[in-house]
Amino acid sequence: MDLRHAAHLFGKHPSKLLHRLNARHPWSHNDAFHPWIMTHLPTRRRRALDVGCGRGELVARLAEQFEQVHGIDTDAGMRNASRQRCAGLDNVTVSATGLDAVSGGADLITMVAVLHHLDLAAALTQVRRILSPGGRFLCVGLARPDSFTDHAWEAASILTNPLIGVVRHPWVAHPAPGPAPFPVRDPQLTFAEIRARASDILPGVRMRHQLAFRFTLTWTKPDDA
Ligand SMILES: C[S@@+](CC[C@H](N)C(=O)[O-])C[C@H]1O[C@@H](n2cnc3c(N)ncnc32)[C@H](O)[C@@H]1O
Repeated sequence: MDLRHAAHLFGKHPSKLLHRLNARHPWSHNDAFHPWIMTHLPTRRRRALDVGCGRGELVARLAEQFEQVHGIDTDAGMRNASRQRCAGLDNVTVSATGLDAVSGGADLITMVAVLHHLDLAAALTQVRRILSPGGRFLCVGLARPDSFTDHAWEAASILTNPLIGVVRHPWVAHPAPGPAPFPVRDPQLTFAEIRARASDILPGVRMRHQLAFRFTLTWTKPDDA
């Protein structure tokens, strides 16, 4: 759920205040998870795949750690932005290749705010196929809040959002034409539904609620999978 939908939980006036604060101190809920990804990388670092690479920020960071990094995105504008962001990084490629056409042998697959754009079971099955044994899937996802716990995390995300904004972006932002917006969509599946399906396809998967209206999902492919 994004802030526009979530803030109404707190009534009209508090939600207006939250919106004002968030507009003054904006921050990326996706890029905020890059440090989490960078501290959970697998030991072997030959090939990394970033699915739904958007503007290529994560691809550029992974390029410092992996021999080859491939970003895929269905949106031509995002692919162009990624190529510009990674210009000069000769271990980076960007394409529109579908997950089902990506060859196997990856040591890392990342998805940040992308899984809810995909068919869940089909995407996770491809992740299992593409990763080499010992390879790791690091996913930052969005889910539709449903349970009491989900709503408690939503409320915590709403309340901490402006505080994190002030810390990460202390100066006041002035409206300026920004880059082209991402293709976005609201998540349809709940945390519990995603966890149930992921556990079937990726046995041993770990999922955690996080702030910033996100969850994290981690899976390391066992040698016998
Ligand atoms: C919310 S954006 C996130 C972008 C980026 N991962 C980030 O963290 O900034 C979702 C991205 O997924 C891409 N996308 C949607 N469906 C996709 C698909 N089937 N395969 C690859 N990318 C897809 C969109 O074009 C968009 O760039």
